[in-house]
Amino acid sequence: MSLPTDKNLSALLDERRTFPPSEEFKKQANWNDPAIYERAAKDPEGFWAAQAKSLDWFTPWERVLEWNAPWAKWFVGGKLNVTDNCVDRHVRNGRRNKAAIIWEGEPGDTRVLTFGMLEREVNRFANALKGLGVVKGDRVAIYMGMVPELAIAMLACAKIGAAHSVVFGGFSAEALRERINDAKAKVLITCDGAWRRGTVVALKSAVDEALKGTPTIENVVVVQRIGKAAQISMEPLRDHWWHELVAGASAECAPEHMDAEDMLFILYTSGTTGKPKGVVHTTAGYLLGASTTHRYVFDIKEDDVYWCTADIGWVTGHSYIVYGPLANGTTTVMYEGTPDFPDRGRFWEIIDKYGVNIFYTAPTAIRTFMRWGEDWPAKYKLSSLRLIGTVGEPINPEAWMWYHENIGHKRCPIVDTWWQTETGGIMISPLPGITATKPGSATRPLPGIAAEVVDLEGKPVGPGGGGYLVLTKPWPSMLRTVYGDPERYVQNYWSRYPGIYFTGDGCKMDEDGYLWLLGRVDDVMNVSGHRISTYEVESALVDHVSVAEAAVIGKTHEIKGQGISAFVTLKEGIAATDALKDELKNHVAMKIGSIAKPDDIFFSAELPKTRSAKIMRRLLRDIAEGRVLGDTTTLADPTVVAKLKDQYKDEG
Ligand code: PRX
Repeated sequence: MSLPTDKNLSALLDERRTFPPSEEFKKQANWNDPAIYERAAKDPEGFWAAQAKSLDWFTPWERVLEWNAPWAKWFVGGKLNVTDNCVDRHVRNGRRNKAAIIWEGEPGDTRVLTFGMLEREVNRFANALKGLGVVKGDRVAIYMGMVPELAIAMLACAKIGAAHSVVFGGFSAEALRERINDAKAKVLITCDGAWRRGTVVALKSAVDEALKGTPTIENVVVVQRIGKAAQISMEPLRDHWWHELVAGASAECAPEHMDAEDMLFILYTSGTTGKPKGVVHTTAGYLLGASTTHRYVFDIKEDDVYWCTADIGWVTGHSYIVYGPLANGTTTVMYEGTPDFPDRGRFWEIIDKYGVNIFYTAPTAIRTFMRWGEDWPAKYKLSSLRLIGTVGEPINPEAWMWYHENIGHKRCPIVDTWWQTETGGIMISPLPGITATKPGSATRPLPGIAAEVVDLEGKPVGPGGGGYLVLTKPWPSMLRTVYGDPERYVQNYWSRYPGIYFTGDGCKMDEDGYLWLLGRVDDVMNVSGHRISTYEVESALVDHVSVAEAAVIGKTHEIKGQGISAFVTLKEGIAATDALKDELKNHVAMKIGSIAKPDDIFFSAELPKTRSAKIMRRLLRDIAEGRVLGDTTTLADPTVVAKLKDQYKDEG
C-alpha cells in the first residue's frame, strides 16, 4: 500500500485561494458561531446528546455511548422508530400538506407526495409486507429504479423493523444474487423496469435470472413503472404486483418500537477482496448522523427545496435523499433519469422548474457539465440556488471554480463533503456559515468528529504533512459491523492502528489544518464516485474461459476521476483480438454491472510479479500513467516490466 505520489501537489492545490462566507450568509446560517468546533471537541458525547433531542423517542436513552473498541453502542436503552421520525411526526406537527418528495420521471411525468400522502403509502406497503410474512429483524432486498416506491419501500421496512438491503439497479443479476444470499433476504422488491436515456432497463428479467439461485427469497413485489413495453413475466405465487398488494391494505400501521442499536439497513460496498462487504447501520446513531449533518452542512430552512442527484442504490441516496432530509421535514427532489435526456440541460431545467435551493452532486458530473459547456446552465434560471455541494471523490480545483462560477454564480457557498458508506454521514466538510472554503479541500472535520492525518506508525503528521486519514473517536452514524463477518469489520477498519478507524484514504493537511483528500491508498478504485475493487474486476475477468490471469488498476480519467485498465494474460493458444477485448469487457459487465466495465484491456504475455508471485499493481499503474517506474528490485523477473512498458507505449 502506498500513498499517491503522482500528483504535483503544490501546483495542483492552491492553499492560499480562500473564499470566506459572506456576511449575508453568516447572518442566517444554522451554525454561525465558530466556537462550536471547540465546544464539541471538548465534549463530543454531550454535543451528540444535545443534537439527539431533535429526534422523537418512545423511550429516552440511559447512556450516550458505550465504547469497547471497536464495538460501539450509542444511546443505550433508547427506543424510537426511524419512519416515525421521517414521516409520522411531521404529519403530527403541522407538515401534513407539505411536499415531502417531489419526483420527476425521465419521460417528464411528475408526482408530488406530501408528508400526509407519504405516511399513508408507507403504511399500506408496511402492511403488505406484513401480509407476506415479513417480521422485525428480517432482511428485505430492494432492486429498483429511482421511483417514489423505492423510498416508500425503505420507510415501510423501517416502520416494521425489517432491515433493507438496497442493491443499485445498475448491478448485474449475479451481483444481485450474491448480495441477496449474503443477507439471506426473505422478500425482494423490484420494478418491471426503469427509464434510462429513453430506453427500458430490464430490472425484472435480471431479477428472474438472479432468483434462480436464492433459496431464501419467498416473495417478490413488482412496481409497475413501465407497463406493456417492459414485457415481463410474473411467476405465479412468487411474484405480486405492488399496486394489487397495497390496494387492499390498511393505511394505518403503528411503528415498531426499535432499540437504538437495532439494525436499520445493510448496504454492500466494495472492499479490497472480491467479496463485497455488507455495511451495517443501526437505528438511532445513523438517523442522528444523517439528519444533523443534513441540517447543518446544507443549512436547511423550512421552505427549502433540496435536491441530491445521487441514486438511492448508493449511501449518498440513503442518507441525503431519504433519511436525512425526511427526518428534517425537508422537501426532497428525486429524479429518475440521466442529466442528458432529452438534452444536456435537464438538471438545470429541474432546478428552474421546482426552484431548487440546495443542489448536491458529484465531481464527475460537474466535469461532464464543464465539457458540455456553460451555455447549457445559462439557458435556465438558477437564481433560486443558495448552496451547492459535492461528494464522492476529490474535486479538482478547476471543476470547483467552474461550479462556483456557472452554477453557484459566485454567490453560493460550495460544500465539498468527505464521507464513506461506512461513516453513514458527512464527516469532513465546511460549515457554510463559518468555514472559509478552498477549491479542492474538504476543509475540516465537522463538530463532534475527530479526524487526523497520520504516518505509517500512526503518529499525526501535523500541518504541512501528508499521510493516511483516520478517525480517532467513535461517532453515532459509524458502521457497527460487516454483516455476518465481524472479523472482517475488526480486520478491515480497526487493525492497522488499534482503536482507531482506518479510512483507506490518503490525505494532506495544509498549514491552516485544512484537509486535502488524495484518493484511496488501497486496491479500491473510485470510478465516477463509485467504489469498485480491483479484485472484483479481476475475478470477473479470470472467470472467462480465455483468461489465465488478470491485473486491474485505476487509471486517471478526465471525467470519471478514475477509469479501469486491465492487464490480461490469455490461456495458451488463444488469439489476442479486439473482438476478444470487447467480449471480456461485456463479460465483466455481465458479472458485476456496466459501471465495472474496463475502459481498456491490454493483453500481455506476462505480468510483473514479486518473487512470492504477488502481482505488482503499483508498477502497472506507473506504466499506465506513463511514469518513471518505481522500485523494481523485488521483481522475480525485472525484464517483464521493461518489455511491458515498451509494448504499452506502442499500443496504449
Ligand atoms: O475515497 C473517498 C471518496 O469516496 C470513498 C467512499 O466511497 P463510498 O463509500 O462509495 O461513498 C461515497 C459517497 C459518500 C472515500 O473513501 N470520497 C467521498 N467523498 C469524497 C471523497 N474523496 C474526496 N473528497 C470527497 N468529498
